[in-house]
Amino acid sequence: MNSPFPENFLWGGAVAANQVEGAYLTDGKGLSTSDVQPKGIFGGVVPRKNGDSGIKDVAIDFYHRFPEDIKLFAEMGFTCLRTSIAWTRIFPEGDEQEPNEAGLAFYDRLFDEMAKYNITPLVTLSHYEMPYGLVCKHGGWGNRETIVFFERYARTVFQRYQHKVKYWLTFNEINMSLHAPLTGVGLPENSTKQAIYQAIHHQLVASAKAVKACHEIISGAKIGNMLLGGLLYPLSSKPEDVMETLQQNREWLFFGDVQVRGSYPAYMKRFFADRGIDINITAEDRAALKSTVDFISFSYYMTGCVTTDEELNRKARGNILSMVPNPHLPSSDWGWQIDPKGIRILMNELYDRYQKPLFIVENGLGAYDKPEADGSINDDYRIAYLNDHLVQVAEAIADGVDVLGYTSWGPIDLVSASKAEFSKRYGFIYVDRDDEGNGTLERRRKKSFYWYQGVIRSNGAALKKAESSAG
Ligand code: BG6
Repeated sequence: MNSPFPENFLWGGAVAANQVEGAYLTDGKGLSTSDVQPKGIFGGVVPRKNGDSGIKDVAIDFYHRFPEDIKLFAEMGFTCLRTSIAWTRIFPEGDEQEPNEAGLAFYDRLFDEMAKYNITPLVTLSHYEMPYGLVCKHGGWGNRETIVFFERYARTVFQRYQHKVKYWLTFNEINMSLHAPLTGVGLPENSTKQAIYQAIHHQLVASAKAVKACHEIISGAKIGNMLLGGLLYPLSSKPEDVMETLQQNREWLFFGDVQVRGSYPAYMKRFFADRGIDINITAEDRAALKSTVDFISFSYYMTGCVTTDEELNRKARGNILSMVPNPHLPSSDWGWQIDPKGIRILMNELYDRYQKPLFIVENGLGAYDKPEADGSINDDYRIAYLNDHLVQVAEAIADGVDVLGYTSWGPIDLVSASKAEFSKRYGFIYVDRDDEGNGTLERRRKKSFYWYQGVIRSNGAALKKAESSAG
C-alpha cells in the first residue's frame, strides 16, 4: 500500500526503566514499589533487603548494555524510543531536597546515545513505580505532600534534560490505579475506593503541575498523559448492556477527561455520590488542573465486553479488568483477546472526544518464542499481530485522526509487568534469559526485526492489508 503515514511520523519502541534497566540499587538508586514486587504488579509485595534476588534486579541489564541496544534500535530505523526515568535514581527515597547526581548522569548518557542516532526520546516520568520510601514514610499518593515531592522530581528532570528531551508523559496507564493500587498510587491492595480515588485525585493534580512545569521550563516541549486504552464493547445490543458499557468506559476515560479538559466531568458527581465517595478537592487543586496535556498517549493490547448478565460476570471475575470475553475474537497465549480493528475504533473515539493529537505508545504481542536449532527466531505470529494493528492505525489516519507516532511495546525482550515473567516476550530482539534468571543476556535479531525495519524504511508502505492474525 502507499504510505498513509505522515512524513514526520515517529516510529519506534517503548520500554520502562523497571522492566529493562536492572541495576536496582546501583549508583545510589533507592527501592521502588516495583522492586518490592518481584513477582510483578499482581504478584504481591515481598519486603526486600539489599541483595535479595528477583528477576527485575538484573532485568536485561539495560543500565550497562544500552549502547548496544540503542545501536540495534537504530539499525531497525527507530526515530523514537519511549523509556521512563526511574524516580528512585533521582530521588532515592523520594523526599530528599537534593537529587542524586549519579542517577541524573545515567540518563544524560542514555539520551546522548540516542542523539547519536537521531532517535527522539519520549520519556515517562513515572512508569509503574515510585519511591518505596514515599509509600512507607508518607503513605504514597494518599498523602497530598506527595504532589510536592513529585513536582520537585519533575522540575529537576525537566531542568536537567531540557535540551535533550522534548516529548514527555506524566504517569503510565494512570487509570490502572483502580486495579493495582500499590503500583499506581502507592496504596495497599485492599484500600477502599474512597482512599484510591483521593490518591488518584492527588496524582491528577501532580500530573497537571508537571504539565505546567514542563511548559515553563522546556521551550518547544510537548507533554501528554498516558491511558490504558481499555475499550469495552457491549456483549449484546440490550440497552442495559449498552448503558453499562458506557458507564464502564467512563471509569477509565474519566482520567483523560480531567487531563485533557482540565476539570472533573459532570458524570463523576453521580458516580461518587452513588458509591459514597467524597473527594477533597481544594480551590487550588481546581486551578492546577487547568494545565492540560498537549496530546493523548495510550497503550492498546486488547478489548473486552461488558454484560449485565450476572452468571457471565461471575465467570469472568478474576481477569485484570473483569471483562467478559468477546466470542468473535481469538486470544494470545496469555488469554489477551486480539482485536486489530479495536485500535481504529479506539483512535476514532479518542480523537472525536478530545480533538488532540494521539500517540500510540504501547502495542504488541506477548508470546512464547522458540529459537530454531540454528538459533534463529521465526516469530511470524508477532509480525501478523503488529502488521494487522498498524494497518488499522493507517485506517484511523485515513479517517482523519491526527497521530504523532507509534512505539511498539518491548522492542527488545524484557520482564513482563503483570507477573514479572521472561517467557512472555514482545521483542524484535531476543534476549537470552529465562523465568529463573538463567541465560547469557546475549541479544539476537528475530525475524520481526527485519520486518519492522522494512515497515519503518517504507514509512508503513510495506504493511500488508490482506495479512491477518485475527479479527
Ligand atoms: C502495560 C504496561 O500495561 O502493558 C507495561 O504499561 C507492560 O509496563 C505492558 O509491560 C504489557 O503487560 P505485561 O504484563 O505483558 O508485561
